Formats: sequence, C-alpha cells, structure tokens
Amino acid sequence: MPFLLPDSLMEARDVAMVLAFGKLSILEACSLMEGSVERAEAPTERIAVFHTTRLERGRLRGLAGAHKLASVVTVLDSPSGDQSSLTDLMSFHLEEKSNVSLSAYGVVDDDYEDLVRSMLDGLRNKGLRKVRLLRPKDNELLSEKVLTRGALDVIAFPYHGGVALGPTVWVPDSAPMRQSGTQRPVPRPEIALSPRLARTLLNLSGLKPGQTVLDPFCGSGTILVEALKRSLRCLGLDSRASRVQEARENLRWAIGGVTDRGFDIRKGDARELPRMLRGTKVDAIVTEPLLIPSLTARPKTSTAEALIHDSASVYNDALASMAESIQPNGRIVVVVPLIETMDGDEVAVTLDGRRLNLRLYQPGPVGFEYPVRLSFESTRWVKRAVYVFEPRV
Ligand SMILES: C[S@@+](CC[C@H](N)C(=O)[O-])C[C@H]1O[C@@H](n2cnc3c(N)ncnc32)[C@H](O)[C@@H]1O
Repeated sequence: MPFLLPDSLMEARDVAMVLAFGKLSILEACSLMEGSVERAEAPTERIAVFHTTRLERGRLRGLAGAHKLASVVTVLDSPSGDQSSLTDLMSFHLEEKSNVSLSAYGVVDDDYEDLVRSMLDGLRNKGLRKVRLLRPKDNELLSEKVLTRGALDVIAFPYHGGVALGPTVWVPDSAPMRQSGTQRPVPRPEIALSPRLARTLLNLSGLKPGQTVLDPFCGSGTILVEALKRSLRCLGLDSRASRVQEARENLRWAIGGVTDRGFDIRKGDARELPRMLRGTKVDAIVTEPLLIPSLTARPKTSTAEALIHDSASVYNDALASMAESIQPNGRIVVVVPLIETMDGDEVAVTLDGRRLNLRLYQPGPVGFEYPVRLSFESTRWVKRAVYVFEPRV
C-alpha cells in the first residue's frame, strides 16, 4: 500500500481520513488504531479526523474503508488565509515540474478557487513556478489518480468554523481489490459484497495471520477469498450445495491452485454451528447474509417491517449458534439489512447479544451506536448495517 509522504504522517497528531463507508470506516480505523486514538470527529459526511498518539504505520497499511489519509497541517480562518505552513511542507517534497492537486470535501466552488489560488501563490513564492496543477472533476482527485498521476494531493474540508488543509500521505492500492471481485471464476455480483467491504469487515474481526475465520452464510465466498489472501484459515458454510461449489472454486483461484489448501467449505445450516463444527470454536466469525429479496422500489414501512420480521428469526437463531462457537476473545461481525422506505423510515434487523452473553465492540473513545450503518453504497433501498460483538468476559 502506497505511503506517499510517510514522515509527514508519523509526525502528525491529527490525521484526516476520506471515508469509503461513512461510520463503518470510522469503526474500522478505531479498531486498527486501538489504543492510539484519543478523540475522533466527523466534520463532514465524507471526512473523519482522528487525534492520535503513537501512530503505528504498520497498523494502517491494511485499512480498507478509506480512500485517503492526510495529515492535518493547518486550519485557516478563511479560504484566502495564509497557507505558508502547508506550502513550506509541500516545497520540501516537490520537484520543479511535479503535479499538485487540491481535493475538496464539502467546500463550495468559490472557496475552492480561493484555496487553489492561494496554494499556487505560496508555491510560486517558494520558487516553484512550474508545478502543474491538476484540475480534477468535482474538485476531487480520486485516490487511484493520486497514484497514476504521481500527484502531491492536498485535501481541504470545513473544520471548526474554518478550512483544514493537509497533504494526502497514504492511499490504498485499490486495483487488486477490484480485480478480486471481477476476475474470480464465479463473481456473482448480484449477491456478493465488494472485496473492499469484505476487507473492512475482516479488519473489524481483529484476526492475525494463521487464525481461523468462519463465514456461516458464505455464498460465493467473497469474505473468505479476502481472508485467504491474508493468510487466515477459512471455514465456510452455506445451505445451498451450488454456493458451496462456487465458493470452493473462488477460493482455489485465490490461492492459485487446484487443491483445497487452507480452507474447508461445507453444505450446512448456520443455525447449527455447534453440531457442524463438532464443538470446536473459531477465532472469529465474519458474515454478510442479507437474507431479504431484492426490491424493485422503495417499499411501504409496513412491507419493510414484514420483510425484516420474516428474516429476523434466522439472524437471531444463527447469532445464538455463533455465540456458542466463538473463542472467548473472538469477535462476531455480522452485516444486517436496513431498508429505506417510501415513508422516509429506515427499518433494520436488530440483534440482541446480551441474552447470549455478548457485548457490543467499542474500540477507543467514540461510543458507536449499533448497528453501524454503511454510507455511499451503490445498493438502492436495501442498505447494510454492521454489528460487531465480543463475548462478555
Ligand atoms: C447474500 S448471500 C451471501 C453472499 C456472500 N456474502 C457473498 O459475497 O457471496 C446469503 C447466502 O446465505 C445462504 N443461506 C441462507 N440461509 C442459510 C442458512 N440457514 N444457513 C447457511 N446458509 C444460508 C444462501 O444460500 C446464500 O448463499
């Protein structure tokens, strides 16, 4: 994963993140940086700012739910304010003909133009007269383009009544994630989640290489493919034999082989895990069942409630079975459906872990409200929300 300006990040106390999944991305970051985050804020829908101590670069390497990380270098009172601390830092890293860009999140066009002008003036004053300014569509240089154009990208966002600015210091290498979804033998886009989301969920599990993850509603195996790639041992179950075959094919492809090394996928019912696993316990469970039919229009609230009610018993019975099959320090990560209705309501499956001696995972100082909703998904009326449980000790 590319670190663009590593020193700058390590020295930063305030790190801004461009969120791929909204609140779920904040949960993932707090999980990866557990113990290092003192405070987190979300100044706009797309940005979170983490106040950190002892930031460990290695821990951030696997972050999946972020498009960019930037160090917050300055907060201006107004868009035409003095950017010298930023341009000092930039000039240290720039060569005469480098590409630069400004990516704005929640900044109006006029303010954007003022910020760009002021940044270019600052760079010229430092003798950098030939830097090339990229003009990205919608005032945002996408993270892939930051890499392909080799740009020093600065992000800007409203913050505490002013505008915060800082250079992008890390972006994920998203090409392998995309290929993992499209190039596997059985892609099944109609049921599969994205590899990026699968990685985010796996990060929430806190698993280390060599440990065992179970997906008891594995479908075509998207979560397990990503798990296998990070050297986790994979167990999968699905009640349909055809899905079991599809998952096996995808997992074989992931390890580039014909043997079933490192994984075991079986036909079975997620509500009977203790029997299926013969009493053995796994290090984590990560699953995305989404058991409601796809909708062609926003339903009425009463219809949505009926759909959610019909599937809720499978989720709750499966959760009880998962609680019996998890190691005492393991986590259970479950995606549930959330339906947006034509009456403007949101109806979600709710899971109660207390009766199963499970508590909700709360990394760091934030205090997440569960289920944690995903934002910016391409799905239409059926959205996703996530629970992370751990056994109460
Ligand atoms: C939405 S799909 C999961 C998709 C998966 N996350 C993927 O990326 O391919 C839900 C799966 O759960 C399976 N399923 C439904 N009820 C089940 C049960 N009680 N036990 C195990 N699997 C079940 C279905 O056959 C289906 O393949």
